[in-house]
Amino acid sequence: MDATADRLRPAASAFTIREAHEDDWSRIWPIVHDVITEQRTFPYDPAMSEREAERGWLVPAPARVVVAADGHRVLGTANMYANRPGPGNHIASGSLMVARRARGAGVGRALVTDMVAWARRNGFAAIQFNAVVDTNTAAIRLYESLGFITLGVAPGAFRHPADGHVGLRIMWLDLRQS
Ligand SMILES: CC(C)(COP(=O)(O)OP(=O)(O)OC[C@H]1O[C@@H](n2cnc3c(N)ncnc32)[C@H](O)[C@@H]1OP(=O)(O)O)[C@@H](O)C(=O)NCCC(=O)NCCS
Repeated sequence: MDATADRLRPAASAFTIREAHEDDWSRIWPIVHDVITEQRTFPYDPAMSEREAERGWLVPAPARVVVAADGHRVLGTANMYANRPGPGNHIASGSLMVARRARGAGVGRALVTDMVAWARRNGFAAIQFNAVVDTNTAAIRLYESLGFITLGVAPGAFRHPADGHVGLRIMWLDLRQS
């Protein structure tokens, strides 16, 4: 890591997780755009327009969208929702992204911890992440450190720009056991 990147990293206590407002979108979009165009961690269309991304990310209540904010700076964002409608709506799911320059400082951990607390408060039985790229070591280590397990891997289901066809994991946190 170079000194410039180091300077941009937030101090561990310098951010708070709060619900996103509509006017946060202009600061969320650069993070989403960077992650989806990189095509290493999300099976999203990299050509998605800003408007499509906004509709997809800013999910309406009872789903929830949060940001990790340091004053006016948005360091990361997560959304969370029922994984499926109807008879599947007792299982939660969600997504998170941390700005490249803010990674490694606890923002991702704070976002997932907040998501778990939200799922518990709302009576979900588990959280299921449907498509965790098998080479996404940072995400997998983070989720495992919080108790998530891998239920299975869809082999070669993701075309990684450097690693070729890699698996997509289904990861699961049972909220009834703990
Ligand atoms: C995955 C991601 C959310 C992690 O966010 P982050 O703010 O960098 O993570 P944190 O600083 O909170 O680190 C939490 C844990 O993740 C793991 N981790 C984070 N970065 C890591 C890395 N580069 N290599 C290995 N493990 C890493 C560690 O277990 C770490 O725990 P520790 O600090 O106790 O060692 C972030 O890298 C990101 O946004 N990536 C692109 C989008 C993405 O992959 N989203 C998830 C899709 S499933």
